Formats: sequence, structure tokens, C-alpha cells
Amino acid sequence: FSNNVNSLRVASPTSNVVSELADIDWDNLGFGLMTTDYMYIMKCAQGEAFSSGELKRFGNIELNPSAGILNYGQGLFEGLKAYRKHDGNILLFRPEENAQRLRNGAERMCMPAPTVDQFLEAVKATVLANQRWIPPPGKGSLYIRPLLMGSGAVLGLAPAPEYTFLIYVSPVGNYFKEGLAPINLIVETEMHRATPGGTGGVKTIGNYAAVLQAQSAAKAKGYSDVLYLDSIHKKYLEEVSSCNVFVVKGNVISTPAIKGTILPGITRKSILDVARSQDFQVEERPVPVEELLDADEVFCTGTAVVVSPVGSITYLNKRVTYGSEGVGRVSQQLYSALTSLQMGLTEDTVGWITEL
Ligand code: COI
Repeated sequence: FSNNVNSLRVASPTSNVVSELADIDWDNLGFGLMTTDYMYIMKCAQGEAFSSGELKRFGNIELNPSAGILNYGQGLFEGLKAYRKHDGNILLFRPEENAQRLRNGAERMCMPAPTVDQFLEAVKATVLANQRWIPPPGKGSLYIRPLLMGSGAVLGLAPAPEYTFLIYVSPVGNYFKEGLAPINLIVETEMHRATPGGTGGVKTIGNYAAVLQAQSAAKAKGYSDVLYLDSIHKKYLEEVSSCNVFVVKGNVISTPAIKGTILPGITRKSILDVARSQDFQVEERPVPVEELLDADEVFCTGTAVVVSPVGSITYLNKRVTYGSEGVGRVSQQLYSALTSLQMGLTEDTVGWITEL
């Protein structure tokens, strides 16, 4: 790499396209939308299957005011990332898992979904078309945001007559303003993210609107985000607004079990496997909030947040702190193992990487 990354010419291994890197400040990426060149769009009617889509210049989309997504929230989203390797190749992390999760969610939300292959082809095409926006190695990643929505018009409550699958991308850096430093959470005791039988276990857009009130209040008080409890006992950990949560005690790493109210995170599942491979004892079970009080470490996982160490948690006006010397040993170890794999710095022996 030359010192001036903006003039770097990037060779794509499969497309033979040589593109300049976008002329942006790669050293200061946060997690905000930076519009790129292309988006992918594919449509189908209710009762039919998606067949073919196309890349279009990125821009606004037109929707009927009566569209199912606008009126009744019939929509799902996904999140995954592309990394640029030092040799110029582009890596995706477990994209078939996102494809399958979208299909599971679509069933719950009464929507048709792209097949796994259609999803993968669409993601690859969108990433390659926007490759000048993939950050140089070590500077961040290209966040890929697939959306599936009821785009047809409905007035009475019913599944929409038409569906749109769309993918857009944005270069991103760290999710939290703390960067890689530990975040500060507050346990929410009044509001809940999800209820049994509801949609907490799928990535529907409404789950995320539902956390905004508690999240805004927490941020106004200086916290990074909110940790939710289960809505029945108000006692067991669920998840943070945008990520899953893990508690470390000795050699045991525990996380709330997937039971319909918790988003089955792909980073969550990957971290559990990485932890097992490093001889930690892994437990997926109900985790009582009291376990936060004597945990050695707490961390969060998600595509956007990656592995974020937690520095403090406030519960019923009591503040517990972790890792007085910064990032905890276990959080750091798991973060390094996962990101080295995602960035192509360690060999992928588990088949999690798709190279474009
Ligand atoms: C992700 O981590 O990709 C998500 O979808 C969470 C979102 C709130 C940024």
C-alpha cells in the first residue's frame, strides 16, 4: 500500500475491475451512513418467488403511502460486513447465515424471501459494484444492509401485495463513540424489548424502533446503551438494543439462551464456537441479572458492534465496574480471534469466510 491510500488502485480478483479507493477520510470512520455508488433491488408479487434483481445507482426509492412497510411495519433487515484483505481480496463473513436468518424472519412476517443463493449473489454483486468504498485493511469494513419489505399498497391489515428486497452499503468504523474502549450500560427495568410469542427472535424493523425511547433516555444520562431484561420475570438478561450480551466468570462464558425473544446473532453464535475452541466452558441459559454483580467481565457481540467490552453496568442505581485496567482479557482474546478471521489474518479452518 502506498501512503496515500486515496490514490490506491485496487484490483478485483474476480471482476478484473480496477477502481480507485473513494476519496474520503478513512482514518475517521464511525458508524454513520455514507452514501455509495450502487444499491441492489429485486421485487416480487405476493404468492410468487423472487426471480431477478438489478443494481441501480444509489438513491431514494419511491413507495406508495399505503405500502405495508410504512403502515404496518412489514419489514426485516440484515447486517453483514465485507473486509478488504492486504492482498486486495474481499472477504464476507458467514453471509449464508444472514440469508437463512432473513428467510426465517420472512416466514414470521408473512413475506416471500430470496433464496440463499439469490441473497448471496445479490450481496456479492452489490459489494463488487461498490468496492471502492471498502476501507483499506485495518481501517474498518463495508457494512452491508439488506432490507426486505412489503412495498405494495394495503389499507386493511394484511400482507402486502408486493415485496422489495434491497441492499445498500456504507463504509463503517467502530459502532460506539467509545471506539474500542469499554461501554457503559444501564439495565432497563420498566420497558422491554420483546415478549414471548412476539417477534424478538427475528430481525424485524419494529424491534429496533421499540428500543429508541429507553435508548435515548439512557444516552441523555451519558450511558452508551440499554440492557433489557425478560418481560415475564423482569430478572433474566435479554440483550442490548443492538447486540447480544455475554457474562464471564472464571473459565465460564454465559449468554442468554435463544428462546424467541432474543435475536440469534451470527456474531453471538461465532463467538460461542470460538470460545469453545479455546477451551472455555460455554453456557446458553437464563442468566439472572444478579450475575452481573460478581462477573469478571461482560461483553456484547453483534455485526455492527463486533465484540464490545462493557466497562460498567448500572442496575437499580448501583454501578458495577469491570476491567479496571481497560479491556478484559477474555473479551480481548475473543475479539482478536474473531476479527483476525474476519479480516483474513488467520487461516479460516471452519469455512466461515467467502472470498470474492
Ligand atoms: C447489526 O449489528 O448489524 C445490526 O443489525 C444492529 C443494528 C442496530 C446496527
